[in-house]
Amino acid sequence: MARSTITRDDATQLKEPVRPSGTGVVQGFEHVQRTTLALDAAAALASVESLNQLLADTMTLRDLYKKHHWQAAGPTFYMMHLLFDKHAQEQSDLIDLLAERIQALGGVAIAMAADVAEATLIPRAPKGREDTAAQIARLLHAHEVVLLEARAMARDTVTTGDDGTNDIIVSDAIRTNERQVWFLAQHMR
Ligand SMILES: [Fe+2]
Repeated sequence: MARSTITRDDATQLKEPVRPSGTGVVQGFEHVQRTTLALDAAAALASVESLNQLLADTMTLRDLYKKHHWQAAGPTFYMMHLLFDKHAQEQSDLIDLLAERIQALGGVAIAMAADVAEATLIPRAPKGREDTAAQIARLLHAHEVVLLEARAMARDTVTTGDDGTNDIIVSDAIRTNERQVWFLAQHMR
């Protein structure tokens, strides 16, 4: 009987993807290339490492918002459905800023879900649907993780002289997360 989906075993029977001849990976994840940003190499390396942690946690927060956007239910459905999606979009914009800052510093941005899942400090959410209060509590905790590391990064980048990263962390990451926490927290009063 025909099946409507494939199994993991089916997928492993596929041929290797066609690749042009060459080396494939041209920069390892841990490697930070030299740039002409007039920035100390150690400062760039420290920023890339911290930014990748913040990026992994911001991606996880974005995914949490999408999960709750889809799984919203109850008397506040319409309001929460829209609010969760607005915040998810703002987190997506932040993700692009953080990832492109990593690349601009000569690093490699973390990108794929499996790598993000390994790296994130935000606790894993259940596959099942949570009620609205639990969704909001989970999001507030995730924001606190992100804000804790963003504030540490803001202090570190002042010390190392990485002003561009400091600006993104303070003006974009911290301000966006603080505003979203305010909107969420009002539902818990
Ligand atoms: Fe949607």
